[in-house]
Amino acid sequence: AVELNPAVLPLEWLLGTWECDEPGEGCFPTIKPFRYTETLHFSHVGQPVINFMFNAFHAESKKPLHRECGFIRMQPATNRVAFIIAQNSGLVEIEEGELTAQQLTLQSRSLARISFAKKPHVQQICRVFQLRPDGKLEQTVSMATDSQPLTQHLQITYRRSS
Ligand code: HEM
Repeated sequence: AVELNPAVLPLEWLLGTWECDEPGEGCFPTIKPFRYTETLHFSHVGQPVINFMFNAFHAESKKPLHRECGFIRMQPATNRVAFIIAQNSGLVEIEEGELTAQQLTLQSRSLARISFAKKPHVQQICRVFQLRPDGKLEQTVSMATDSQPLTQHLQITYRRSS
């Protein structure tokens, strides 16, 4: 196996595959609350980068829904983290934030989308990943759209599966 690049060593705790331990909860003022399952993969090939794929499914029908993939980089000699993300909805984003202990707090800095993306368009995203003392990983996502201020959209916890 290739050694983890020291530039991303502070993110080693993310590496591997994570499965949600119970369905995540999705909500937003304009939609019907829903439940979903999700698998996260974080890997590396020795570059100063973590590669990731997030695949979400409908909790009951198991149909594939939301998918994201991308890269994580760290600014050398700082706790500054950047996520470079592509989503199957036609959205691409840069999120930046900080690593403090085993928590990542991220804000979107740049969003772009395909010309025929579904409306309403998302205008801002805030995300938190936290490795909890019980070894579970938690992700929460809030977003603002054309019509709604920053409000929670997703909350889910995962257990490491490999
Ligand atoms: C709805 C964005 C992740 C499932 C929406 C809406 C937006 C959005 C803008 C429309 C809200 C409205 O109509 O007012 C995002 C963003 C995500 C994300 C930016 C990631 C950062 C996910 C994930 C799932 C999911 C992981 C899991 C399955 C849904 C569902 C709806 C929805 C079921 C309602 C039905 C629909 O509009 O398709 N999302 N979403 N989303 N999202 Fe997400």
